[in-house]
Amino acid sequence: MNYAPFFALCMRIVHTTHKMNDHNQTPKRLAVLALAQQAANCMNCGLASTRTQVVFGDGNPDGPLLIVGEGPGMNEDLEGRPFVGKAGQLLDSCLAEQTIDRRHIYITNVVRCRPTIREEKSVRNRPPSSEEMAACLPWLQQTIAIIQPVVILCLGAPSAKTIIKPDFRITQERGQWFSNSYAPNIIASWHPSYVMRMHGDAYDKARAQLVGDIAAARNRVREVRRTLEQSTALEET
Ligand code: URA
Repeated sequence: MNYAPFFALCMRIVHTTHKMNDHNQTPKRLAVLALAQQAANCMNCGLASTRTQVVFGDGNPDGPLLIVGEGPGMNEDLEGRPFVGKAGQLLDSCLAEQTIDRRHIYITNVVRCRPTIREEKSVRNRPPSSEEMAACLPWLQQTIAIIQPVVILCLGAPSAKTIIKPDFRITQERGQWFSNSYAPNIIASWHPSYVMRMHGDAYDKARAQLVGDIAAARNRVREVRRTLEQSTALEET
């Protein structure tokens, strides 16, 4: 017996009930919630026919930092939240080293439905195709337009190519700052799944670089805030 759809339905009811009882809604939260409700019925690409549910995003839309990954995997597809599997656990531990948790950030993906490949006896995760990423782009663009993040952290090449520039090269350009109409401060780092595939010293180095890029993102948020406070103080004198 396959309990996955039943489990997914229960999670959705818990999630929706929780949101309905939350009286601390802000304009950005309400706008993201409304967008997520529209996206829940998205039929823009073939992933609609294989997903359990749309994994729209998670965290705090009022936070200054937006993290964008690649696409949901099996765990995310079942639970309805991004980065809840092993890669998510690694990401959470890297964020925690910089005293960041999901209440401080909003986190989403370039595609909001799980891309899969069907093999003889199993269904596996796969990277999203360029058509799937293009079909999902309006959701990402609208999410960014609502949140107006101070900093975007792209995790992995597909995210960086979508948000920074199509010819982005993760091995050469990770950890560098970019700016465009999506956000004034954009940085890309290794995807946690890539870090997990490393071993020994290579793992330690890649993980340290991911933590370093998260630290750079957090420091940039602080710098921007400080500059804003100083200019407000100047205006008030
Ligand atoms: N990998 C991603 O890129 N996103 C998720 O939500 C989970 C794993």
